[in-house]
Amino acid sequence: MLEKTRLLPFNQVTKNKTRFSDLSGLKDFFLDEKKYTLADMPYKDPYNIFKMWFQEAKELSDLINPLIACLATSTRTGVPSVRYMLIDSFNEHSFKFFTFHTSRKGKELKENPLASMCFFWAPFLRTVRIEGHVEQLPDAVADELFDKRSYESQINMHCSSQSERVTSCKVLMERENQKRKMFNPASVPRPSNLGWFALVPSVVEFWQIKQKKERVRYRKPSPGEVLDKLTHQGEKGWVYEYMEP
Ligand SMILES: Cc1cc2nc3c(=O)[nH]c(=O)nc-3n(C[C@H](O)[C@H](O)[C@H](O)COP(=O)(O)O)c2cc1C
Repeated sequence: MLEKTRLLPFNQVTKNKTRFSDLSGLKDFFLDEKKYTLADMPYKDPYNIFKMWFQEAKELSDLINPLIACLATSTRTGVPSVRYMLIDSFNEHSFKFFTFHTSRKGKELKENPLASMCFFWAPFLRTVRIEGHVEQLPDAVADELFDKRSYESQINMHCSSQSERVTSCKVLMERENQKRKMFNPASVPRPSNLGWFALVPSVVEFWQIKQKKERVRYRKPSPGEVLDKLTHQGEKGWVYEYMEP
């Protein structure tokens, strides 16, 4: 059962004390401790802004897991689907995640590598939307990343025929027991249908409410594009634009 405190609405999160364990001075709907507006960001590239926001979200890790994001994919004919994912890591070039090639999203990414991801850090009322294309990481990298995971997680990955129908949840428990007998903690091989993927962004859009709603879009300019007065030169190959929220 969920802890009772976990069920409190965000309007009961205090402005200064951001932990559910201390509920004194409750009043604000969201945390308005943001020190800067999107217009006066110290960086003009999406990676460094994302890193700053991520760090701030991480400090609230007993409220949210800042690595959870929604991943949208679609078929070749444009039928969309979306699901939450735990992002494995991110850097200047991409946002990495793991999933099964044989899953619905795995198949969709194979026929259409364009995807979008959205983080929502509720206590801050901030979202970051990323658009780009997904690349599959080489098997050797996937093996290395799989090896770093806990035994529990490795066994779980061996139990999943993700996105397939199953007779009942009981089957999954039985499967788990079998896999534990099959693999000892020192040597669990990566399931052949499990891969690591990288979403390489071409657009990253930040949205937040400070006193007012604010939205800024970073994008890679098209080749030879001449910037007009609504498009600003950013850093590290990006341009940016303020958007109607
Ligand atoms: C918090 C959370 C984290 C998740 N992380 C992953 C993940 O890292 N990889 C994954 O394949 N599915 C993950 N899932 C499961 C997906 O939401 C989804 O059910 C699954 O990937 C099957 O999606 P598909 O049938 O659209 O391919 C996660 C679900 C939740 C709620």
